[in-house]
Amino acid sequence: MADKFTVGVLTSGGDAPGMNAAIRAVVRTALANNMNVIGVMHGYEGLVNGEFRPLGARDVGGILQRGGTVLLTSRSKRFMEPAGQRDAIRKMNEAGMDALIVIGGEGSMNGAYALSQKGVKVIGIPGSIDNDIWGTNIAIGTDTAMNTIMDAVDKLRDTASSHQRAFLIETMGRNSGYLAVMAGIICGAEITLIPEHPITVDEVAVAVEDAYQRGKTHAIIINAEGSGIRTTELAQRIDEMDVGFKTRMTILGHIQRGGSPTAYDRLLASRMGVKAVEALVEGTHGMMTGLKGKGVDFIPLADVISNKRKVNMEYYHMVKVLSR
Ligand code: F6P
Repeated sequence: MADKFTVGVLTSGGDAPGMNAAIRAVVRTALANNMNVIGVMHGYEGLVNGEFRPLGARDVGGILQRGGTVLLTSRSKRFMEPAGQRDAIRKMNEAGMDALIVIGGEGSMNGAYALSQKGVKVIGIPGSIDNDIWGTNIAIGTDTAMNTIMDAVDKLRDTASSHQRAFLIETMGRNSGYLAVMAGIICGAEITLIPEHPITVDEVAVAVEDAYQRGKTHAIIINAEGSGIRTTELAQRIDEMDVGFKTRMTILGHIQRGGSPTAYDRLLASRMGVKAVEALVEGTHGMMTGLKGKGVDFIPLADVISNKRKVNMEYYHMVKVLSR
């Protein structure tokens, strides 16, 4: 009798809330389809090192609601080199791994594509708070991060309006302005600074002064970490320009990556985890699961890595209109 089909699963890059829900869905769907599951620890770094452990149904119990990733993660430099990828494939073969499911962001999908080009059966699942992955409306973790940002900015607004201040708030997102623009809408910012649409300190100052003149009690400015202007410098310069409000600033930082996943992220992660295993059952690979409309579909990894996701500029302009 042929050995059972064995699938490996790893999480890679920045952790995102909902990754555990995806791991759980992968493991339980694979077991339901009579497969073995191997958990790869520490992302691609663990794949190169052969840090493997078998995963059963009980091993993924009680993790659905937990942030972070129980498989741990890394940003592996070694795996980016062909020699590292070759060693990883050797370790997979030694462990009898027939396929690999990679849960992670843009860089992780690049790694997944590289493996698939070398003959490995790979399925990617997009997980990143940045929502910068082409081919899916939204990645696992983004919704939770947006809710975390919303909660933080709501709190900052309380103190901002009590003291009649302008608050500059920095969001994560690496080279993407997605989180900042969405935060601008859901938190009622005057203006957002994003990498995709550079603006000057003077333009920010005009927006803040305008808010003051319109009788606002405070102003919220969201600065994406990749906007090109450091939040500390921006806050200082706006303060010096005397725009009506005194300024303060807060860098939200890694708080945005933590916490229990929202209902939306748990559902998305569960659906994508199930779909990823179903792909392997059907003999499909070299694909990423992506949310298209209301359904989870398969998108070729080749397309995912060769396209850049763009921020919808309609949302960017909406921030200003809604701040009247
Ligand atoms: O990709 C997720 C992310 O949180 C980005 O928004 C941010 O630029 C980066 O990771 C930070 O990475 P690290 O935790 O390695 O400092």
